[in-house]
Amino acid sequence: MKAIVFENFGEPREVLQVRDAPMPADPVAGEVRVRMKMAPINPSDLMTVRGAYGRLPTLPATPGFEGVGIIDAVGPGWLAKLRGLKPGRRVAVINGRGGNWAEYVVIPARTAVPIADDLPDEQVAAFFVNPATALVMTQRVLHVTRGGWLLQTGAGSALGRMVIKLGKHFGFRTINIVRRKDLVDELKQLGADEVLIATEEKIPARVAEITRGAMAPYALDCVGGPGVVEVIESLAPQGRLLVYGTLSGEPVPLDTRSLMGGQRAIEGFWLSEWVKAQGVLRMLGLFHQITSLVRAGVLTTPVAATYGFDQLPQAIEHVERQARGGKILLKLDGV
Ligand SMILES: NC(=O)c1ccc[n+]([C@@H]2O[C@H](COP(=O)([O-])OP(=O)(O)OC[C@H]3O[C@@H](n4cnc5c(N)ncnc54)[C@H](OP(=O)(O)O)[C@@H]3O)[C@@H](O)[C@H]2O)c1
Repeated sequence: MKAIVFENFGEPREVLQVRDAPMPADPVAGEVRVRMKMAPINPSDLMTVRGAYGRLPTLPATPGFEGVGIIDAVGPGWLAKLRGLKPGRRVAVINGRGGNWAEYVVIPARTAVPIADDLPDEQVAAFFVNPATALVMTQRVLHVTRGGWLLQTGAGSALGRMVIKLGKHFGFRTINIVRRKDLVDELKQLGADEVLIATEEKIPARVAEITRGAMAPYALDCVGGPGVVEVIESLAPQGRLLVYGTLSGEPVPLDTRSLMGGQRAIEGFWLSEWVKAQGVLRMLGLFHQITSLVRAGVLTTPVAATYGFDQLPQAIEHVERQARGGKILLKLDGV
């Protein structure tokens, strides 16, 4: 089969190659083998290739933590049968170990999620990582209240846009920080209440104005770097900031006194750690809720372009462009 492989950690354009690779072995009990159709290129995939992610594979390795595919073989066991996993069934392929950027992959049966036919492949390909993170952070970790203000950085990202739409859906209000002016109208059309430009505005002063001095009880950050200091200064007393990404790659110059006054808190969030603490039934409930919210147009992923194996360099060049306008998908079935 074909697979995208890297032998050394490094810049994706330099180390990723399309290779012939051995087919994965037949699935054992509790596993399924999937013929992959599509997978997104997510920041976590690129960080893994660069050797900068929280958990790294043994090399050589194939990236890819999510995607969509068709079940090709099912290992023995009752769980797969109970959940309707059989050859020919389309599934979201959630793969915590990585390896989805290949024609075939073997994953645990419990993370193959059968998806109703009405959702298009492009949406099923990005069904889990961002939708679950946006939903869990706002509804199950921060418990953002109706009418409450949530301040977020990196609001133009695919995940940031989902948070904006979740705000409209659940009735919380969003103040969105972006790095480019041309995102202001675009995000307001999605339902953003306020959009601020990182380099041009004093964020705490604007948040004070918008919230009439109350400041923001909730905040999300996926950028890191010096801008986070302004986010902390924008928190209300007892306010909580959840950090979940480091798009800038820069550390935060934090004066811990800014947390003491008002007893503000910074917490980390990593979906794969959160998932480990959930039982099977809770995960099935989460898959069900995400399906409804994708269908309702709330947790949809904007897609900029799709590239085949033979266009890997173009896909990597496109994903690293500013203002790329949505997710880049890899088409893995050659059809
Ligand atoms: N902790 C977790 O469990 C978890 C789970 C899922 C995602 N994440 C994180 O969530 C973040 C967003 O993921 P995604 O899939 O939605 O990303 P994405 O849309 O594929 O890409 C990120 C977008 O953010 C913008 N961006 C890049 N660098 C930026 C910077 N320094 N400042 C402001 N904006 C910047 C870029 O948009 P423009 O070029 O259009 O400005 C870029 O297209 C990432 O950091 C990812 O690692 C974390």
